[in-house]
Amino acid sequence: MTFMPAADAAAPRIRDEGTAVAHPNIALVKYWGKRDESMFLPVTGSLSMTLDIYPTTTTVRLTAGPADVVVLNGNTATGTAHSRVERFLDMIRGKAGRDERAEVISTNTGPTGAGLASSASGFAALAAAAAAAYGLNVDGRELSRLARRGSGSACRSIFGGFVVWHAGEGDGEAGDRSSYAEPIDGDVLDPALVVAVVDNAAKAVSSRDAMRLTCATSPFYRPWAEASAVDLDEMRMAIARRELSAVGEIAERNALGMHASMLMARPSIRYLSPQSVAILDRVLALRADGVAAYATIDAGPNVTVLCARSDTPRVDAALREVGDFVDTRVAHLGPGAALVPGGDR
Ligand code: DP6
Repeated sequence: MTFMPAADAAAPRIRDEGTAVAHPNIALVKYWGKRDESMFLPVTGSLSMTLDIYPTTTTVRLTAGPADVVVLNGNTATGTAHSRVERFLDMIRGKAGRDERAEVISTNTGPTGAGLASSASGFAALAAAAAAAYGLNVDGRELSRLARRGSGSACRSIFGGFVVWHAGEGDGEAGDRSSYAEPIDGDVLDPALVVAVVDNAAKAVSSRDAMRLTCATSPFYRPWAEASAVDLDEMRMAIARRELSAVGEIAERNALGMHASMLMARPSIRYLSPQSVAILDRVLALRADGVAAYATIDAGPNVTVLCARSDTPRVDAALREVGDFVDTRVAHLGPGAALVPGGDR
């Protein structure tokens, strides 16, 4: 890490800035629950695919102004959206030994806050852009640890392809050092994901609040977390064996188990809608017809279906047939977060 002294107060305008692009990721073995809230340390390890759709582009420009200004999709952020970014920048400023405020301009091309990993692409792009703007010289692993502190799942979007997030050990500083993401070597498997968007609206309960309540109150949480550790080991082996059906089976059971644990929270949390269930039924029907298609669902009603690239047209058509409320997007493995040369957009 490079230590940069605070800029000379007499300087007319501080010009340091960075622009980065990052894509969302969909977990095949989910992250659900923190063992240390302040450090974003997960209870379990998780594994995801970084997508090639819905990129977020973020510019961080240091200013001489008195406060951080955050512009998300053209609107100035206030309340929680602003304070999450400000807290994240405070953490970056602490590490860089600098105290300038920043202007953050972020454009997200996917649905925001609808359970389609917008916080993952958002904080991955912010981490990369802010590290550049504040002069932090970090490698990919360190960048993933920084992104994790904006939103846990963001640590996985630092890398492309299949990515594992190690839960790490301990809390506080020790946990922080050992909890990072890393890519799984090689183009081991190259499937498609058909994202069935049934609802674009931002969800009523954030995944942060929902996972806190699930951990604290659901009698199904511990059994899910224990099963998830086994799922992670089996998933890594299934990916290495290039066995799409095993990857899909593990992903589907892991996601449905996570939703079962939420249903048992007190009060119960239910992200699944009748439309989500209709898609799940169609996935079962596809399998009965011999198509290897498997569903996963994050903290929202939208369903993502894993299948072989060659089956994509059939799966896509079958999901659209479920009703006019379904809009689909096909995704494949996408790249990790990257700085945009030249910075300014
Ligand atoms: C269901 O990463 O959004 O998508 O760390 O509190 O910001 P915070 O939570 P977040 O949770 C993602 C939950 C999930 C599963 C996953 O991506 O692994």
